[in-house]
Amino acid sequence: MFGIKFNHGVIERNLILLGVLTLITISIGGLVQVIPLFAVESTIERVGGIRPYTPLEQAGRDIYVREGCYTCHSQMVRPFRDERERYGHYSLAAESMFDHPFQWGSKRTGPDLARVGGRYSDDWHVLHLRNPRHVVPESIMPTYGFLDRPLNYGDIGQRLATLRTAGVPYTDAMIANARADLEAQARPAEDGTAFAARYGRARQMDPDGNAKTVTEMDALVAYLQMLGTLVDFSEVTPERLRQQ
Ligand code: HEC
Repeated sequence: MFGIKFNHGVIERNLILLGVLTLITISIGGLVQVIPLFAVESTIERVGGIRPYTPLEQAGRDIYVREGCYTCHSQMVRPFRDERERYGHYSLAAESMFDHPFQWGSKRTGPDLARVGGRYSDDWHVLHLRNPRHVVPESIMPTYGFLDRPLNYGDIGQRLATLRTAGVPYTDAMIANARADLEAQARPAEDGTAFAARYGRARQMDPDGNAKTVTEMDALVAYLQMLGTLVDFSEVTPERLRQQ
């Protein structure tokens, strides 16, 4: 190449030399990917509406993780036309910036859930989780009727505090009132003013209609119903995202 006679055989017969040169070659590839990231202020778009999960949603998210829903469901709409037509706007980094651990997933035995919030009623979700065949006869999703048991949320304040150490902006008031906020969201008949002051547009809901007990079902449905609903995409355009 370029008139230089290159004795490849020397490299191939010398294990250490081969290793060192391989390392250098791979490093160049890695640096080309990594260095530009230091030049940009942030890889996360600044969009309105993103807030930390409410205590009830976070408890539901913990159940989602515990049950391994990600083994069949992704939570990332990719920027391809077929995906956008089926699920809605492609996922933004900002939408999962408070996710620890993230649930992007890579397996879609069932549909992507990144934008499932608001697509069905609360009742639909409860029926579907108790037995997916009630609403989708051909479904192969397992039944989750056992989630109709009381939610264990004695440690919800500590859970939020732990997330704060990972960078989620929970305030002292949010952590101190975590239990009260969880109960306020799950009991729509109760006054939700203090809860709304901390979590804005989050909806009070009692999906299973059992007003006495906050169940795991309530928490999981609260989480599913907020997925993908925080950002108002009528105000987000590719041009605006690029300008930032
Ligand atoms: C073995 C694979 C599997 C697992 C595990 C699984 N699902 Fe599903 N899920 C499916 C399939 C297949 C569908 C499509 C048929 C249907 O709607 O039931 C589906 C559909 C759904 C839908 C409706 C989505 C839509 O847009 O219509 C929701 C919501 C859902 N699953 C939630 C969950 C949750 C929450 C968990 C964990 C508790 C879970 N799934 C676990 C396979 C699975």
